[in-house]
Amino acid sequence: MSVNKEIKRITTETLRKMKFDGDKISMLTAYDFTMATIVDHAGTEVILVGDSAANVMAGHETTLPITLDQMIYHAQCVVRGAKRALVVVDLPFGTYQSDPQKALESSVRIMKESGAHAIKLEGGKEIEESIRRIVNAGIPVMGHLGLTPQSIYQFGSYKVRAKDDAEAEKLLSDAKLLEELGCFSLVMEKIPAGLATKVTESISIPTIGIGAGNGTDGQVLVVHDMLGLNNEFKPKFVRKYLNLEDQIVNAIGQYVQDVKSTDFPNSNEQY
Ligand code: KIV
Repeated sequence: MSVNKEIKRITTETLRKMKFDGDKISMLTAYDFTMATIVDHAGTEVILVGDSAANVMAGHETTLPITLDQMIYHAQCVVRGAKRALVVVDLPFGTYQSDPQKALESSVRIMKESGAHAIKLEGGKEIEESIRRIVNAGIPVMGHLGLTPQSIYQFGSYKVRAKDDAEAEKLLSDAKLLEELGCFSLVMEKIPAGLATKVTESISIPTIGIGAGNGTDGQVLVVHDMLGLNNEFKPKFVRKYLNLEDQIVNAIGQYVQDVKSTDFPNSNEQY
């Protein structure tokens, strides 16, 4: 799908209606202007400026090191490229968990300085007051439950979450709480498909899954993963639509050869 001249912005209301109508929502990450432009042109409804930027853009092992200033920079680049998609930005680790006032200030900075349309944060009951404060300020909030990568050192691994009854029950009750607090949507990461479907059927806000099966209202992937930009990373839940790493390596290898053989530039490629 390509976007025509009269671009109508996707809003949180659009997503709510999509759930109601049974239309699935597509969401992808982007961290820069060029990729955001492409993802937007391709028709993705939501672009997530994920704190996974810490991994795929900066090469960190976890999402913890990325700062609020760095997230704002990525968000500014994405907002310039996204003409139709709703742009959601992750609140990075340490900018909202400690106190609700700080959570609000971090969210306000993202909204004011980047021009993004919503924020996302990880957790349920533990950050209830932070969510309440942000929503009350008129900022749309997307929740994130299940495998929440900012808690990786507490989890100890990136294994599937909420497999046991206690954790599954907490996740369901957190999902209901997020709806009650006014979140407009909820990401569920790496949890059993049956649980994700149950949550989706139990709440009226759209759910977006990643490694959570087909019963959610939408799906999200890290764009670098689905384009095959990293051959090393191949979790079960990622479908690779391209093998870009190989294609780029081949193309660059060809360029190197052409430079060395003086085939590039030729007479048409010079002034
Ligand atoms: O940071 C991120 O990319 C995310 C998605 C995996 C949901 O939070």
